Amino acid sequence: MTKNDLIKIAYEVMENAYSPYSNYKVSAALLAENGEVYTGCNIECASYGATNCAERTAVFKAVSEGVREFKAIAIVSSSHDLTPPCGICRQVLYEFAPNLDIILIDKNDNIICHSLKELLPLQFSGDDIK
Ligand code: THU
Repeated sequence: MTKNDLIKIAYEVMENAYSPYSNYKVSAALLAENGEVYTGCNIECASYGATNCAERTAVFKAVSEGVREFKAIAIVSSSHDLTPPCGICRQVLYEFAPNLDIILIDKNDNIICHSLKELLPLQFSGDDIK
């Protein structure tokens, strides 16, 4: 599975995004260590705070099926420009995959890759509450 494959899969599910309030569609493709890919889209709610981001949708789908180890996530949006994961999603991704690669794409279709640790420095984790 290449970075491009993962980006393509993320784009394929973007139409499933439910975003009537922001009109901003986000989708993600999460590659598990077992080789399976779990997709997700943003799901908005009239009570805005109940909205779920694409990345967390993908993580929750995987975890609810018993999969907890991940290699990489590709994130794209209807802006067709960089779509960095929000802070809450970074924290949720860190819970399961501290060494995750985050694959983004810019408006010129360049692939931009960051480690999750780069995007979430000085992480808070379960180790801090032992
Ligand atoms: N959104 C995501 O799906 N992922 C992010 O990391 C950032 C924001 C969604 C939530 C909401 O539906 C819309 O983008 C605007 O914030």
